[in-house]
Amino acid sequence: MSTGLLEDLPGVGPATAEKLREAGFNTIEAIAVASPGELIACADVGEATAAKIIASARAAADIGGFETGDQILERRKNVGKITTSNINFNDLLGGGMETQSIVELYGEFGSGKTQVAHQLAVNVQLPRALGGLNGSAIIIDTENTFRPERIAQMVGGLPPKENVNWEADEFLKRIHVARAFNSNHQILLVESAMALAENLRETDYPVRLLVVDSVTAHFRAEYVGRGTLADRQQKLNKHLHELMRFGDLNNALILVTNQVMAKPDTFFGDPTKPVGGHVLGHTATFRLYLRKSKGEKRIARLVDSPNLPDGEAVFSVTMEGLKD
Ligand code: GTP
Ligand code: MG
Repeated sequence: MSTGLLEDLPGVGPATAEKLREAGFNTIEAIAVASPGELIACADVGEATAAKIIASARAAADIGGFETGDQILERRKNVGKITTSNINFNDLLGGGMETQSIVELYGEFGSGKTQVAHQLAVNVQLPRALGGLNGSAIIIDTENTFRPERIAQMVGGLPPKENVNWEADEFLKRIHVARAFNSNHQILLVESAMALAENLRETDYPVRLLVVDSVTAHFRAEYVGRGTLADRQQKLNKHLHELMRFGDLNNALILVTNQVMAKPDTFFGDPTKPVGGHVLGHTATFRLYLRKSKGEKRIARLVDSPNLPDGEAVFSVTMEGLKD
């Protein structure tokens, strides 16, 4: 990612740069995903200038680049799988949740999305023999639903291992949580996550999981009203591509949650569709539709996977976490 100053962008003098920073646009990446309306509002620039600033920020931010086929093959050899703690759920996914992929959990409130995310943050830390990747987890928490107590309960529910006492404290130390207060902040936190992952890369527990719970809620809350849909989808799309890049660079699983819309939404025709519509659908590698069943039981349905058959798995959310 570019590390240039805002002042490097054509059309941005020191005064404009200062106003932009005051409004929270601290990096060229943040400008690159801004809308002209936002810049006009916070930096007192005209529409043409705003458009020019954004265009040059996008060019400067140049996320990604090309890889050759053999490089991709080499990278794909390192794909790891993280257990869900449930045999059927693992089978549905061809063995577990894969690194270098985006897994989207969508479903109504209480369907278990956050529970699955907590369980994966525990399981990623397990040794490979037990379905983990000896990895750390990063959680971008947009709804303030991360609960360390819940992690401790799940650690208590881990399968016993000879000579090892699973310590909840140890697990909690390897889960790095940040609250995201709005969608721009959420986008910026991916950059911070990247820096953190770089710091942990050569340690015993490199980052192998990045959770964004929920990936769509802020976008949905902020972009309301006629004419905002295109902006929202564009930003969400860019955010998802940055997440994907994080997954590729760090050999990490990207696990995102998404609520289905309870009420018909003005922007989408079908009220049963997950928030984010086709943008999320095309970027997520695995989409799982979660729904409630009797009591503790939950059903995960795999939808549109590139190389696995669609199907369903039943799992339980118990006091000690996900179980068969
Ligand atoms: P939203 O974020 O509201 O969209 O829902 P979600 O899909 O993230 O739901 P979540 O994962 O929070 O699931 C909540 C459900 O998990 C509860 O209704 C309980 O059934 C179960 N659950 C949550 N915490 C516990 C717990 O401590 N013990 C047990 N046994 N179940 C729990
Ligand atoms: Mg939740």
